[in-house]
Amino acid sequence: MESVYIHIPFCKSICSYCDFCKMLYNGSWVTQYLNALIEEIKDKYDGEVIKTLYIGGGTPSSLSLKDLKYLFEIIKQFNLTELEEFTFECNLNDLNEELLQFLLDNGVNRLSIGIESFNEDKLNFMERHHTFLEAEEKFKLMRKMGFNNINIDLIYGIPGETLKDLKKDLELFLKLEPDHISTYSLIVEDNTKIGINGVIPIPEELDASMYEEICEKLDMKRYEHYEVSNFAKKGKKSKHNLKYWNNEEYYGFGLGAAGYTNGVRYENTRSLTEYINGKRRKKEEILSIEDKMYNELMLGFRKMEGINLKDFFIKYGVNMQEVFDLHEVLKNEELIVDGEYIYVNPEYIYVMNEILVKIL
Ligand SMILES: C[S@@+](CC[C@H](N)C(=O)[O-])C[C@H]1O[C@@H](n2cnc3c(N)ncnc32)[C@H](O)[C@@H]1O
Ligand code: SF4
Repeated sequence: MESVYIHIPFCKSICSYCDFCKMLYNGSWVTQYLNALIEEIKDKYDGEVIKTLYIGGGTPSSLSLKDLKYLFEIIKQFNLTELEEFTFECNLNDLNEELLQFLLDNGVNRLSIGIESFNEDKLNFMERHHTFLEAEEKFKLMRKMGFNNINIDLIYGIPGETLKDLKKDLELFLKLEPDHISTYSLIVEDNTKIGINGVIPIPEELDASMYEEICEKLDMKRYEHYEVSNFAKKGKKSKHNLKYWNNEEYYGFGLGAAGYTNGVRYENTRSLTEYINGKRRKKEEILSIEDKMYNELMLGFRKMEGINLKDFFIKYGVNMQEVFDLHEVLKNEELIVDGEYIYVNPEYIYVMNEILVKIL
């Protein structure tokens, strides 16, 4: 395992659409949580060299500097001599010179910020609050302090949002000149405020036009569309997330965290009490070779470059075409083979799941 994900489940406020493992910040829980996190890491980490580290949430930047110092002491347990990418997820409102300096001093070289939108109606719907001017100011600060790898998240497909609204959002996002942009179509999850209130997702055709607009606009501005929802400037693809899409193993530590180690995919409990009491694992699945090949396709076809057929053979000792029936999707040009690679025809990337259903 060359990669570690650490989950920090605390947020200063809860967004209306969020079904991630999160809870409202509570200072006295944080210390107990971090104590339990140390135990999990001590128990499971085998001392490998770690090349990518990702602290996500929740909102890691919601922690106080004192708690963050404790968290970063914990991180020193890992062998980070060859660390290439260290991402820390932040909320825009938490960014200040002191926090940024602390992150820099501790080796963080990539920031990921959930901006989501600058449209007032969209932000109100999401129950998030910031302005473009604030974002511009924070970007200036991050750049001045030396951060050269910044991702921002965009959510589209909010009920009532028009194509024009999205275009405006894209224009403002691009004005910030981020190095990486992740875009997500709003998912209405049952267990969220909007789900409980019965919010209806936008029509599929509008969603598809919005996706098309995003792809075109970001391509024009020289962002490489390298994964269904992710776009990067040259040299700024997320090394950590690519490990997921390449179906590689990684440690997941923390409440609700998922991981994949020694052939086992696991998910931790979402109950803070259980986690603090050392009852961490909720689910564990030992993968068969068939499961692994299935995941290879599910994840690998998310990448625009697709899957390297030679690597597939080296990994599994069998050709992909011998295991999966690809005749129809190749004939229809839904999948394309080009040299060593097989990939989803970009025209169909939006309906990738339907293609996967046909194959799998
Ligand atoms: C779990 S959040 C962590 C980032 C940070 N807590 C924040 O919100 O600023 C990661 C990203 O997932 C996306 N996301 C979360 N819930 C979503 C939903 N229901 N539909 C679409 N995207 C969602 C958002 O873009 C969000 O920034
Ligand atoms: S979207 Fe981010 S900030 Fe909002 S509740 Fe979820 S994890 Fe917390």
